[in-house]
Amino acid sequence: MSKITAAITAVEGFVPDYVLTNEKLEQMVTTTSEWIETRTGIKERRILKGEGLGASDMAIPAIQKLLEKKGISPLEIDMIIVGTVTPDYAFPSTSNVICDKVGATNAWGFDLAAACSGFLFALVTGSQFIETGRCKKVLVVGADKMSSIMDYTDRATCIIFGDGAGVVLLEPNTEGLGIIDSILKVDGSGRKYLHQKAGGSVKPASHETVDAKEHFVFQDGQPVFKRAVVGMAEVSADIAERNHLKSEDIAWLAPHQANKRIIDATAERLGLAPEKVMLNIQKYGNTTAATIPLCLWDYEKQLKKGDNIILATFGAGFTWGAVYLKWAYNS
Ligand code: UT7
Repeated sequence: MSKITAAITAVEGFVPDYVLTNEKLEQMVTTTSEWIETRTGIKERRILKGEGLGASDMAIPAIQKLLEKKGISPLEIDMIIVGTVTPDYAFPSTSNVICDKVGATNAWGFDLAAACSGFLFALVTGSQFIETGRCKKVLVVGADKMSSIMDYTDRATCIIFGDGAGVVLLEPNTEGLGIIDSILKVDGSGRKYLHQKAGGSVKPASHETVDAKEHFVFQDGQPVFKRAVVGMAEVSADIAERNHLKSEDIAWLAPHQANKRIIDATAERLGLAPEKVMLNIQKYGNTTAATIPLCLWDYEKQLKKGDNIILATFGAGFTWGAVYLKWAYNS
């Protein structure tokens, strides 16, 4: 019997309509459009406006479009894993909410918190259930409403992040396509540089935590940048090397979109020309767990069956990693 691999067989995305441009940010904090663009590559980002809307409200339309496109009933879905650091609620999980609202009543699932690496960690987790034969259809979601934890008076963070959601469908493949290899890493000693100070069990919400703005993202950008440049490039080079992939064998790099300078360093390390690097940071900013599926969504039409693709990420925690996959379909 041929080996079962987990292949991405569909991708969809959702970004909110509201566009927060660099020029609008110039009115909100002391910055310039030029600084933001040259230091990060970002021109604009999307923001989910409206009362009572959470990460699931972006994931659900993406999932519904995917199911419609594939002609799949929600009842066929076995599992939904949601990479997010901005869940609808602390509990129940966003996955639970999504299963209910899309009518995936035969599915189970959970949220996975690995910050910007949430999608990649969820993808590798979901792939295990396909490879073992336990599941036939797994939805892997990356969804973050970063605006819900953003201090729009802090120019060090608010210029970077945006809101969005992406989803892929994983199905079994016996042609040797799909996820071939992965390297995932964590280093908890990096947690001090990028985190949310309050709202967890260590420091529950109080008037004081709200007054001290401790429910917003805290980031010490420089140390994160330095580790990200090295970490994302190294793990990408390692996965290429151990799979005997030379730069000419790699069709695409799908990197986490945190800062164009980090992406460029990774591409350079792999010896890849800019045409092989998926890039949408200029229009969405850093959507945390959603960046990689949103890249696959934007570039789907250009991807060919059999293409060697490296997905790479670095995020808070620290968390980082790379996945090597062979694209499984022509769209
Ligand atoms: O996705 C999760 C992981 N996160 C990341 O990968 C983010 C990694 N970090 C970064 O991308 C960068 O560190 C930032 C984009 C956050 C900041 O860029 P930087 O080049 O590292 O700037 P910096 O923090 O070293 O600050 C340089 C200068 C400072 O001024 P002085 O002290 O040199 O006078 C900052 O105060 O730039 C100033 N600055 C700004 N100026 C205009 C910081 N933010 C801004 C701003 N507009 N928005």
